[in-house]
Amino acid sequence: MGSMRVVHLSAEGVSVVIAADDGMPEIVHWGEAVTSTDPDLLAFVAAERRIGMDGDSDLPYRSSLLPEHSRGWFGAPGLSAHRDGSGWAPRFALRSLVLDGAEAGAGVTSTAAGRVRAVLHDDDTEIELTLEIDLTSDGLVRTRAAVRNTATALASAAPLEVQALAVALPIPTWAQEVLDFTGRWGHERIPQRHPIVRGDHTRTSRRGRTGLDATLVQAIGTPGFSSDSGEVWLGHVGFSGNHEHTIERTDGRLHFRGGESLLPGEVRLAPGEQYTGPWAFGSYGRGLDGAAARFHAFLRDRSRSSRRPRPVTMNVWEAVYFDHDRDVLVDLAARAAELGVERYVLDDGWFRGRDDDRAGLGDWTPDPVAWPDGLRPLADEVRALGMEFGLWVEPEMINEDSDLARAHPEWILRAGPELPQRQRFQQVLDLTQPAAFDHILGLLDGLVDEVGVSYLKWDHNRDLIAAGHPASGAPAVHEQTLAVYRLIDELRRRHPDLEIESCASGGGRVDLGMLERTDRIHPSDSHDPHDRFGILRWTGLLVPPEMMGSHVASPVSSVTGRTHDLQFRCAVAFLGHFGIEWDIRDLDAHDRRVLGDWIARYRRHRHLIATGLTVGSGELDPAAPQVRGVVAPDGSEALFTIVTPTTSADTIARVRFPGLSTERSYRVTVSGSDSFGPPWQVPAWLRESPGLSGDSDSQGGGDGPVIAGAVLSRVGLEFPTSHPDRAAVVHLAAVASP
Ligand code: DGJ
Repeated sequence: MGSMRVVHLSAEGVSVVIAADDGMPEIVHWGEAVTSTDPDLLAFVAAERRIGMDGDSDLPYRSSLLPEHSRGWFGAPGLSAHRDGSGWAPRFALRSLVLDGAEAGAGVTSTAAGRVRAVLHDDDTEIELTLEIDLTSDGLVRTRAAVRNTATALASAAPLEVQALAVALPIPTWAQEVLDFTGRWGHERIPQRHPIVRGDHTRTSRRGRTGLDATLVQAIGTPGFSSDSGEVWLGHVGFSGNHEHTIERTDGRLHFRGGESLLPGEVRLAPGEQYTGPWAFGSYGRGLDGAAARFHAFLRDRSRSSRRPRPVTMNVWEAVYFDHDRDVLVDLAARAAELGVERYVLDDGWFRGRDDDRAGLGDWTPDPVAWPDGLRPLADEVRALGMEFGLWVEPEMINEDSDLARAHPEWILRAGPELPQRQRFQQVLDLTQPAAFDHILGLLDGLVDEVGVSYLKWDHNRDLIAAGHPASGAPAVHEQTLAVYRLIDELRRRHPDLEIESCASGGGRVDLGMLERTDRIHPSDSHDPHDRFGILRWTGLLVPPEMMGSHVASPVSSVTGRTHDLQFRCAVAFLGHFGIEWDIRDLDAHDRRVLGDWIARYRRHRHLIATGLTVGSGELDPAAPQVRGVVAPDGSEALFTIVTPTTSADTIARVRFPGLSTERSYRVTVSGSDSFGPPWQVPAWLRESPGLSGDSDSQGGGDGPVIAGAVLSRVGLEFPTSHPDRAAVVHLAAVASP
């Protein structure tokens, strides 16, 4: 034990305990904060040591951050690499273990948030490995690995080919259930839950983008875990290209493993070269919401969405699609401004040759027929109406029918002589080629300057198929992903106030690699409130509400064909970054008033939505009302959206309001659907609410009942369930104690 070094990081109720002797560092605990003294911690680490037979043979495997086959690990090794078939079983020796810049000494070093950096080397295979483990001040863990080819003696030999590099975060085996997500276009984040069994449960994206079916997170928890109960560990890989999330259960061990999924030959390191894998994130908490809160805090720390109130948005896609008529678009802008909209986004269809989705991608100059004087006049009119101007782009894509493709066919990704199979009639531009990169950067930069664009909706509407570098055919997804990051980073550097939305046919690119450099996401192309509630709830395990675009669209959903009334559509969209995506030119007076009321309500409450702690309940029981809420961190105020189940054997169900202060009482005010079923079944708190009688919820005043927080959060209030697709937005304002 003399040389054993133990580092204890602890923040916001979470501990990470790392132990290292002369080999790979091991996370001996990640979970609830350990409050023991340093000597106690050392005694614990010593107590678990095993020596094998005579300290020499049959040494048991100790779970490590990067599992090594050479030390008897028979699951997937953390590093899979070789040099022309040899050097495939490295056995790393620790060279340094640094905590926040200083070498950790023997014994225990305890600190709050911090970064541990371990450098290891295998002299035989000549590979250096660097591991980084951060615990943020919000208690979020992130870790990544980098490998370097240090060959000197082997300098003339084959390069080091990295096939896989993935880090592993251990989870106690009393976590026995997993919840993760799948989906498809318009139906992102469909939950699937099942017991953990022996073996690997792997969710891979080979789509060259995160994926509409991407799981987003894997939630691993104690049996029966829910929104606010049980221990929950969330794993997430922050990468927008091919990647893998795995839950691996073996003899006595369970871990979340995450990394990039590399294509054949994609990473070949010459001597001195290094490959760095993406960050894998881990968030521990009480219930799903406790764990999700750490991701939200992490993003809120970084995002420009936190810098100023989220502007109510009008996106014109579902209003006009490709039919760009200047007068119509100006009319829409004027009507949006009247309703209180603050940002106007011109979607697809504005550039040269873009009459439909078969042509034009790559030609990022305004269409001379629709916009003979360019976009500046429209943008100026939008600004004169008091709104910001935003623009849709899809910079990574190219149509074969475009001037760009005709001029530069050699800029299209392909693995062989033929172009890859088209998706949405489009191909992928090779941004790893400096000339193509500079061309696109120049065009985007120019548009932002010339038109005065303050917001880009950055779309990505196809998976990458056979995406090779055109000259060699070698796989290009890894480098293309990094090139996209560089493109966004450079644009942001040049335009620090420019906001960017990440969209990929809806929620196909939602990950922390993207979210660290963009300001919000488009969670789905489906605005159908019936489905959207779940999409927001589950995407919300990673993304805070104010970073999820949340639009009210037409009564008949363009994706599902279902019809919903306006109150329900608005109430479901409310806890997000609120906006409109609908042809509002012929709204009648009633709908105009209803929409205007919801916009005003959103503007009043958006600070709470953008700073509150997210809570939820009911989402795992199809017969129960479902709840999403935000609660002010000081418990002074909260908002909850409650939606009725599709079908239930019960006509009434108790709904609890999690997260409230149990020491305070709250005035209850409700907005939402015009009816919740037969009036005799609707409880007084809902039926008599001033917000439902056509008035707004008057900023926490009004005459709604005052009910104790302890009752609201522990007992709940009855909610009618007879009618499906009804929603209430409940505002709770703490009242001063008498
Ligand atoms: C897919 C996006 O998800 C939509 O919102 C819209 O921007 C279209 N692309 C435009 O082509």
